[in-house]
Amino acid sequence: MFHYKNGELMCENVKISGIAQKVGTPFYVYSEKVLLGNLNRIKKAFSRLQPLIAYSVKANSNLSILRLLAREGAGFDIVSGGELRRVLKAGGDPKKIIYAGAGKSYEELRLAVKNQILMVNLESEAEAELLSNVAKEVKSGVRVAMRINPDVEAHTHEYITTGKKENKFGISYKSAPEILSRVAALPNIEFVGLHIHVGSQILDQSAHLRGVRRVVSLIKILRSQGIGIRTINIGGGFGIGYRKREKAMNVEKLGEKITAILQKTGCRTILEPGRFIAGPAGMLITAINYIKQGDVKQFAIVNAGMNDLIRPSLYKAYHDIITIKEPSTRKREEVDIVGPICESADFFGKERLLPPLEAGDLLGICDAGAYGYVMSSNYNTRPRPPEILVKGDQYFVIKKRETYKNLFSGEKFPPHLA
Ligand code: LLP
Repeated sequence: MFHYKNGELMCENVKISGIAQKVGTPFYVYSEKVLLGNLNRIKKAFSRLQPLIAYSVKANSNLSILRLLAREGAGFDIVSGGELRRVLKAGGDPKKIIYAGAGKSYEELRLAVKNQILMVNLESEAEAELLSNVAKEVKSGVRVAMRINPDVEAHTHEYITTGKKENKFGISYKSAPEILSRVAALPNIEFVGLHIHVGSQILDQSAHLRGVRRVVSLIKILRSQGIGIRTINIGGGFGIGYRKREKAMNVEKLGEKITAILQKTGCRTILEPGRFIAGPAGMLITAINYIKQGDVKQFAIVNAGMNDLIRPSLYKAYHDIITIKEPSTRKREEVDIVGPICESADFFGKERLLPPLEAGDLLGICDAGAYGYVMSSNYNTRPRPPEILVKGDQYFVIKKRETYKNLFSGEKFPPHLA
């Protein structure tokens, strides 16, 4: 949905340069068509299982995006009381909300039980005991699944692999039968199923398949122990093609293979995709402030910084960078695209081959719809950029650019400095 037309980059039928003139730069722009298309691709790929697709809110939690996906029938995977409040505000159905996370607080569990969400994914026996007490206080039952650490290698960045035994997530599949026999007996909580998530940005199907097979063999053991299992949540993690030569996860093929394994279990399937839905739907648009020729490098210094999109600095993540004007020459020059922040980690791309650039040119940092805005900060006292949603030939500001007033609003001088 991002394509060139008459020499200009378009998002659906809207000119990116036109949005830039109106709202200024930098800004995030999302395509409604891509968001819905990706959700529906996953729905179709797994359709024989009739799964609940619980969009992972952490990837992009803008209220309009949540409402858009809710109206398309999505459920939601949340990890905090804040995300629960967001989904409810967006009009999401509590009966389709799943709550995961290794460190849920007492208050957060209480909020979840009060709102009668679909289920809580437990990560430890201690959490199961706390939740059992919370449910007693609130005088309401609560359904739970246990997150199992399947100990599989996911071949992704070390910070976003989650399903290995050295990671903090879930309980080990080896100790699961013993722990679950106690958890299933706890009062006020109804134990319904198992949850796994092997990691994020996974391009290799075998990691998901190994995880799913591990869970299925565990189900057999648990059932033979008299512990019923009705749901299997296989998590998210479907990778996208950040680089041209990198192929996104073929969800159709994965869907076929996982369907074959899970159909026999008779369990309800739950998926938690985030990046696959939101990542390719968004771009961060920025303008070049200066071109600078160093001794060994050329730099394009842009007006977005690592505070706006931290993935390159934090994970050395690669995002494709393109010009908003379609290149009119085949000439390419090597350039580092860097931000204005006082750190050498403040870069978006190094040694990129781009057409000759000038100050004032606009650039698009691709695949920034997931883990972009949600991870932004005010570092260097920089207001966060606006978020724009495009639908056909219209665009809408779905979050305003922050003002300096917003930034200073919670700060207070103590009496001796007033
Ligand atoms: N379910 C669970 C339990 C998760 O921990 C995650 C992501 C997801 C689902 C969604 O994964 P996805 O489908 O989006 O890959 N900030 C990092 C990614 C962190 C992912 C954390 N967990 C990044 O920018 O790459």
